[in-house]
Amino acid sequence: MIAPSILAADFARLADEAAAVAGPPGTGADWLHVDVMDAHFVPNLTLGLPVVKALHAATDVPLDCHLMIEDPERWAVGYAEAGAYNVTVHVEASRDPVALAKDLRAAGARAGLSIKPDTPIEPHLETLRHFDTLLVMSVEPGFGGQEFRPSVLEKVRTARRLVDTGHLTLLVEIDGGINAETIEDAAEAGVDCFVAGSSVYGAAEPGRAVQALREKVRASSAHRGWSG
Ligand code: DX5
Ligand code: ZN
Repeated sequence: MIAPSILAADFARLADEAAAVAGPPGTGADWLHVDVMDAHFVPNLTLGLPVVKALHAATDVPLDCHLMIEDPERWAVGYAEAGAYNVTVHVEASRDPVALAKDLRAAGARAGLSIKPDTPIEPHLETLRHFDTLLVMSVEPGFGGQEFRPSVLEKVRTARRLVDTGHLTLLVEIDGGINAETIEDAAEAGVDCFVAGSSVYGAAEPGRAVQALREKVRASSAHRGWSG
């Protein structure tokens, strides 16, 4: 799955930017990744609930809301109620991620847990049993356009193994620095869903960039003999 991040899109034309990557299943964007930043959990400020509501009304592409915010217990369910398909909170910010996952699911969304590049996965394996997605950050959260950190792929491999052996039931998502050069290594490590900001919206034709990324994933999955 490919999830273009609108962080790299033109914020004055979000409906058009969503349409630019939309398309039939297997060709267009699977999800639209929406980066919510509060200038506290990360040193940057982006958008919040009113923009997510407006975007949800403007596109059929499921919204994947990545909350880089403090106190997600206070805000996250609002994104589920606003129609987000998947709502991801940071394990470093949440006081009680398991309770939050239950609340998100009760509000009709999938529940996602994100870990920063330097956060180990092992202490959170039990918590992850309650989540639908794991968002492995491959850059320090806060800004688009940073360089991919291959060291995080070890965490992807761990999660992949646990999913493949039935210990976890979730999608493994990666976020940060994904482009035509880095996506193959991420695919071979076992990622299910690839977030890509600048490599999609920085391209002359974002829709084609999505297709090109998908082709790379297909080629490397075939090479690895892994069907997803
Ligand atoms: C960074 C965000 C990412 C960002 C990725 O904190 O979580 O979703 O949009 O951008 P690129 O793909 O440019 O690294
Ligand atoms: Zn993100």
